[in-house]
Amino acid sequence: MTRRVAVYPGSFDPVTRGHEDLIRRSLAFADCVIVAVAENASKQPLFSLEERLELLRQAVGQPAVQVQSFQGLLVDFARRVGASMIVRGLRAVSDFEYEFQMALMNRHLEPRLETVFLVPAFDLTYLSSSLVREVARHGGDVSQLVHPAVDQALKRKFAP
Ligand code: PNS
Repeated sequence: MTRRVAVYPGSFDPVTRGHEDLIRRSLAFADCVIVAVAENASKQPLFSLEERLELLRQAVGQPAVQVQSFQGLLVDFARRVGASMIVRGLRAVSDFEYEFQMALMNRHLEPRLETVFLVPAFDLTYLSSSLVREVARHGGDVSQLVHPAVDQALKRKFAP
């Protein structure tokens, strides 16, 4: 039987409970999920690439989930790792246009690769890495929204 490999790409700056939820949901239809951290998605990320990879490994590490970084086009990475699908989360209408454009462009570049959109858990719908960074930057409590390792890393980043 063919092994179904899904790529879940993003900047993960940092990984949140929302990302963790989507990875868990992906494992319902993929045998293996490769979390693909874009090296240059965000020009000035809060966490370095190494830090983002390490936090992801702590938050989502399990045999069926791999964490890797990639440079260049996502479709090239997906081809290299033998993925047949890209997983992305759709939280609100505001995500839709950007996600739709990316899905169509990726299909143009690699027609055999399907993009699968997943809806996150209700209570995680309005969660984003940028909101988590913003709240943590001002000393707010994000402990319910991220893995404890990420919470600690944020506290260290923003320690006075
Ligand atoms: O979590 P993000 O920052 O919204 O993720 C965006 C990401 C990394 C998935 C996207 O920027 C991407 O795929 N970058 C790799 C370069 C690429 O393939 N660009 C064309 C996509 S249409």
